[in-house]
Amino acid sequence: QAALPEGYKLRALEKKDYNDGFLDCLRVLTTVGDFSQEKYDAQFDKLKAQESYYIVVIEDPSRVAEGKKPIVATGALIIEHKFIHSLGAVGHIEDIAVAKDQQGKKLGLRLIHALDFVAEKVGCYKSILDCSEANEGFYIKCGFRRAGLQMAHYY
Ligand code: ACO
Repeated sequence: QAALPEGYKLRALEKKDYNDGFLDCLRVLTTVGDFSQEKYDAQFDKLKAQESYYIVVIEDPSRVAEGKKPIVATGALIIEHKFIHSLGAVGHIEDIAVAKDQQGKKLGLRLIHALDFVAEKVGCYKSILDCSEANEGFYIKCGFRRAGLQMAHYY
């Protein structure tokens, strides 16, 4: 297992992270939009109540002294409970994002390992994710393999 760089910490998402770079980190991935802390908190509470969302962040507290926000990476695991496979569960890995200036330090690998660990621990028989061809090599390094085909219906 890759170690985190010295001083970095991997932990669960918290409400205060609204101001600590969580959303900026996600902007590496896609459009996030602008919403108030109140709306963020309501979403946070909603996901927490479902007890199937594990959102983690990696922070580097030393960045604060440089006037930067501490969160440098984030990722999510959603547990889907099923009737098939004897009431089995599947992990869905979503929204993996490492800040541009922090890529290549194995933070992505650490995120996936942490989410994989949780998925196995809560009893998932597999974890799956969708990614672009450009990221296939990264997920192969994380132990995943190509399986199936993604379909989407946008509304
Ligand atoms: N293609 C091939 N190999 C890669 C790639 C890639 N795109 N990215 C990283 N790797 C390799 C690294 O070289 C490293 O290999 P090594 O162990 O031989 O040295 C290994 O994968 C681990 O790399 P990390 O340093 O952990 O990668 P990083 O921290 O930069 O995170 C990530 C990779 C998440 C893709 C990051 O670049 C990123 O945030 N990109 C923008 C957002 C994005 O595309 N997120 C993924 C969306 S898919 C989803 O969320 C399910």
